[in-house]
Amino acid sequence: MKTDEIRTSFLEFFRQKEHKIVPSDLLVPQDDPTVLFTPAGMNQFKDMFLGRGKMEFTRAASCQKCLRTDDIEKVGQTPGHHTFFEMLGNFSFGDYFKKEAIQWAWEYLLEWLHIPEERLVVSIYEEDNEAAEIWEKHIGVARDKIYAFGPGENFWPANVQTLGPNGPCGPCTEIFYDQGEDVGCGTPQCDPSCDCPRYVEVWNLVFTQFDRQSDGSLVPLPRKNIDTGMGLERTAAVMQGVATNFDIDIFAPIINQLSSGLSQAYGTDEEIDRRLRRIADHIRAVTFAIAEGVLPSNEARGYVVRRLLRRAAMDARFLRSTDALFFQIVPTVVEVMKEAYPDLVQREGHIVQVIRSEEERFQDTLEAGTRRLEEKLSQMKQKGQGELPGEEAFRFYDTYGLPLETIQEICSEWDITVDVDGFNKAMEAQRELARTASGLGGEIFTVDQIAARIKGLIVSGKKKTTGEEGTEFLDDKILETEFLGNKMLESEAEILDLSDKDENPQETASAGEEVIIILDQTPFYAESGGQVGDTGVIEGEDFLVKVEDTKVRGTLFLHYGQVTKGEAKRGSSVVAKVDEKRRLALERNHTATHLLHFALRQVLGPHAQQAGALKTPERLRFDFTHP
Ligand code: SER
Repeated sequence: MKTDEIRTSFLEFFRQKEHKIVPSDLLVPQDDPTVLFTPAGMNQFKDMFLGRGKMEFTRAASCQKCLRTDDIEKVGQTPGHHTFFEMLGNFSFGDYFKKEAIQWAWEYLLEWLHIPEERLVVSIYEEDNEAAEIWEKHIGVARDKIYAFGPGENFWPANVQTLGPNGPCGPCTEIFYDQGEDVGCGTPQCDPSCDCPRYVEVWNLVFTQFDRQSDGSLVPLPRKNIDTGMGLERTAAVMQGVATNFDIDIFAPIINQLSSGLSQAYGTDEEIDRRLRRIADHIRAVTFAIAEGVLPSNEARGYVVRRLLRRAAMDARFLRSTDALFFQIVPTVVEVMKEAYPDLVQREGHIVQVIRSEEERFQDTLEAGTRRLEEKLSQMKQKGQGELPGEEAFRFYDTYGLPLETIQEICSEWDITVDVDGFNKAMEAQRELARTASGLGGEIFTVDQIAARIKGLIVSGKKKTTGEEGTEFLDDKILETEFLGNKMLESEAEILDLSDKDENPQETASAGEEVIIILDQTPFYAESGGQVGDTGVIEGEDFLVKVEDTKVRGTLFLHYGQVTKGEAKRGSSVVAKVDEKRRLALERNHTATHLLHFALRQVLGPHAQQAGALKTPERLRFDFTHP
């Protein structure tokens, strides 16, 4: 079965199970400052898991473009790790739960993909008797094929009890394809948690049923959710009977082209294979990132793209090529991915151009790095120093892309050693940073004070029973602020929530105090799309609040300001007035960004895409992609 067919069949299966088929979110999420790149299918539904968003549907399925750098060291080394990959997923927001999720996953694998049942084994969280029982009694999986593991393996996020983050989380059950004893490490203790290639983790079903608290306790959520993630490339490898993800139909042409371009046979030498796989993975990842407007740079997303390209370039150098070659691979990537991502076709020329100039620039950087290192070593020699400090060595690696081995080689010509421990320490510190930046480490489900309190503001509706026997939950109505600011700049409103600047709830606040106010309806525009929030006043019968900023959180608008007269009270009727002169200036600058964008596309070409913008009353800034 072709990868394109698996993608389509997965979505069709869940469409038939009454799921809304949602397109992949962008790889560069627009409204989620906590992640650089979309790390998982559930990312675009975070608000719905938290009960913050509008619930227009309660079942969804998607094929999500993801990019993670957490496992970067494993890419190429193992058969199934990537930076960029596609995650198939089905989601329930307070709708179905464990039984249906397990039953449907099994049905899809057996009846739609026709994977032989005897090849599949599953794992559960050691305390999740409910899941164990469903597998054993309901599905009929033999007990010796159900493995129980701890929170490091079978909780999502992993080890959340001890490590956090706070917020929704839950045990998971995973489905593995057993390739047989011959493929694995062959040790008696080998099981699905083993790092060897025998068990391919195909599908992770997360039962998002708890809300982790700061003290590490897990409080049951009123609405239980399902978040599943199935690796498309891994599933394709299983279906196509190939040894690694890099041998599937959408990867093989990339590997083949690299193999001939670098004059290195694939499949004869493990070291060469590893490097070819890594280059293939990284070129695919940067192709997708650049297609969405990311340009190589020294910051955030751009830095990830630059690092991926440089790692690939170092692999190519190891394989004795210093020619710019990767840009020639882009059309092949586009060709194999275009059925699912037709937009790539239009962006191809731009991607080729960006990669080519970055490759050429990197060659120059490497030469400059070598020169600088030699200058440094010459100075050290004069001072009689015999060891290059680890931090210093890391700087040459980080800034100029010189690999440690190259640094050591050059140093040895000067009779200088390298502090390798110090280098590794600096490297580890940077990885830690990268993990945090990827978002999976800490902030995926950050729950703030106000969001937590919103739960208390939820208007409870009628009781409803889920498909699962005996489970009841409230059919909640999520509270929201109605935005009136498109039609008027002044309106009546009611104060729904009043808190101090640290988000602690207050009944009243007197003159001089800084406050955050949530209204039932508001003409204040909240900061978004680069336009800063409105300012103005909120007038009560005998008090006045000067609003200095407005921000949106989920379905609510937060007015940040200071009480300047009298005593503001929760529940009061007020009049909310936007500073009109300032808003009109903002609108003009906003309009101007659209004009500028249009003009840039006319003059530079359709690749000139918006990559960010700032609209203040005084000025505008417009970031766009152009090499
Ligand atoms: N969020 C889970 C994962 O990333 C399942 O989709 O594995």
